[in-house]
Amino acid sequence: MDNPIRAVTRTKKEAKANYDRLSGWYDWLVGASEKKYRNLGLQALAAREGEQILEIGCGTGHAIVSLAQAVGPDGHVYGLDISAGMAAVTQERVQEAGLAERVSLQVGDGAQLPFSHGRFDALFMSFTLELFDTPEIPLVLEQIHAALRPNGRIVVVSMVKEPKTAVRVYEWFHDRLPVLVDCRPIYAHTELEKAGFTIQSQSRLSMWGLPVAIIVARRDEV
Ligand SMILES: C[S@@+](CC[C@H](N)C(=O)[O-])C[C@H]1O[C@@H](n2cnc3c(N)ncnc32)[C@H](O)[C@@H]1O
Repeated sequence: MDNPIRAVTRTKKEAKANYDRLSGWYDWLVGASEKKYRNLGLQALAAREGEQILEIGCGTGHAIVSLAQAVGPDGHVYGLDISAGMAAVTQERVQEAGLAERVSLQVGDGAQLPFSHGRFDALFMSFTLELFDTPEIPLVLEQIHAALRPNGRIVVVSMVKEPKTAVRVYEWFHDRLPVLVDCRPIYAHTELEKAGFTIQSQSRLSMWGLPVAIIVARRDEV
């Protein structure tokens, strides 16, 4: 590739510790800027009553609550996050919303999905696919593909790489502060296609000048 994405040089242990540290402050620090894009992603996913949905990198749990409301009492929402601190904040939010019976949370690595094949109707990922190192992205998507039922859908909200000054500036910070600025723009659309998904729609937006894509893709019927 002509313009490769940046590597993720921090370890998973560092990611865990960093998000644990940030968990109490996350909404205040970055939550507000990500909210609009996450909500548009949820709109694009259009969760329905009775569905089984997984979110990887559920953070402080805003999407989990929204998904649990949408799937209703007959559906179920699963949240996976590498940070126990983030999972605890999500659990509290879910409890406060009275949705605990519809939600199961696990602390774990999205690169090692602990779920059986064909299990989910839909999967949601917001500002999380960009956190996996380059060789790991296809492995994560391969597992997501397997975890979805045939014709199941995925929505990815992600910073995407384009030849823009804002991207180059952001990457400069990512290279120098690999633990704090661990997200980096990726070619999300291409990665999904390479993993065997069919892209259904894609919108391009801008967050402080950084391109953000909201991509809806499907696992084909087999
Ligand atoms: C940038 S935050 C986004 C949180 C949330 N999705 C949102 O839109 O507000 C990324 C989240 O992914 C989690 N995360 C990072 N690496 C992960 C991994 N390997 N597996 C699962 N979760 C991970 C972090 O702990 C954090 O909660």
